[in-house]
Amino acid sequence: MRALQFMSYGGPEVLEWADAPEPHPGPGQVGIAVRAASVNPIDWKSFSGAMAGGQPMSGTGYLGYDAAGVVDEVGEGVTGVAVGDDVLGRGRNTQAEYAVLDSWAAKPSSVDWAVAAAAGVAGETAERGLRLLSVKAGDTLFVDGGAGGVGAVAVQMAVARDARVIASAGAANQDYLQEIGATAVLYGDGVADRVRAAAGGRVEAVFDVAGKTPVEELLSLVPEPSQLVSIANFTAGQAGARVTGGGADSRPMEAMAMVADLLARNKLVIKVQTFPFHRAAEAYQISQAGHVRGKLVLVP
Ligand SMILES: NC(=O)c1ccc[n+]([C@@H]2O[C@H](COP(=O)([O-])OP(=O)(O)OC[C@H]3O[C@@H](n4cnc5c(N)ncnc54)[C@H](OP(=O)(O)O)[C@@H]3O)[C@@H](O)[C@H]2O)c1
Repeated sequence: MRALQFMSYGGPEVLEWADAPEPHPGPGQVGIAVRAASVNPIDWKSFSGAMAGGQPMSGTGYLGYDAAGVVDEVGEGVTGVAVGDDVLGRGRNTQAEYAVLDSWAAKPSSVDWAVAAAAGVAGETAERGLRLLSVKAGDTLFVDGGAGGVGAVAVQMAVARDARVIASAGAANQDYLQEIGATAVLYGDGVADRVRAAAGGRVEAVFDVAGKTPVEELLSLVPEPSQLVSIANFTAGQAGARVTGGGADSRPMEAMAMVADLLARNKLVIKVQTFPFHRAAEAYQISQAGHVRGKLVLVP
């Protein structure tokens, strides 16, 4: 099979769509023939070497943390899914013709493959953030960075549970935020004042998806520091905010079921821009520039 890969750290030019060993599912996993796999910032943080801690590259690097496809192999102990089923979910090295998923849900038939692939990482991360913040009906939530992959899912997931959502984006994405059900504010200097003005009262929770606004400014919005959760500012914990990178606080199977249900009911709509795998470098240039609307998705 072919997979997106890199042999040295660098920019998107190091990526190659080339032969790779075919993966097989272990216990608790499923194997899929990939129909689409999304681009997440962690992918370019990986091939740029930013996550290597200064160590030189060894071996071949592969990319991709989510995908949608057709089950072609079921691992030991897995029930409720069979060869031939259409699924969406999360895994490793998913930007390939065949991949293994660790968590999944049935893909609603009305949902396009690219949209389904876009829901994995963004959906799990959004579910985790809203659960840690206990966002419920009637709460006012501020999502800092609401137009990107995680942000746009978090906004719609919160709206679906009848929370009131204020979200930030650049000038070009203000209409998009309104379209997905948020009150839009511009990010940058003075964003907390704009959120206070839009809220006209309390803000119960802040989900920092972008990691760009100074933590003190975001903390000024919430009643206690623990009501600020960040997925992108790893120093925010020093000021009392909660930082999450997944792992122990992740409930991936529940999250995949939730996003599949929201997609099926049209409560979650993910705007996608697709690229064939052999043009992945173009998608990564856009992702690295930091102003994605919705999600970038790679397709065979
Ligand atoms: N910890 C975890 O578990 C976890 C999981 C997933 C992702 N992440 C991290 O979370 C971050 C976001 O991921 P993503 O997939 O949502 O990225 P993305 O799709 O590339 O979206 C980035 C968004 O950031 C917005 N943005 C740019 N500058 C901003 C600013 N100054 N203030 C507020 N927002 C700003 C952009 O809005 P405009 O386009 O309007 O400029 C864009 O919509 C990445 O760093 C990623 O690695 C962490």
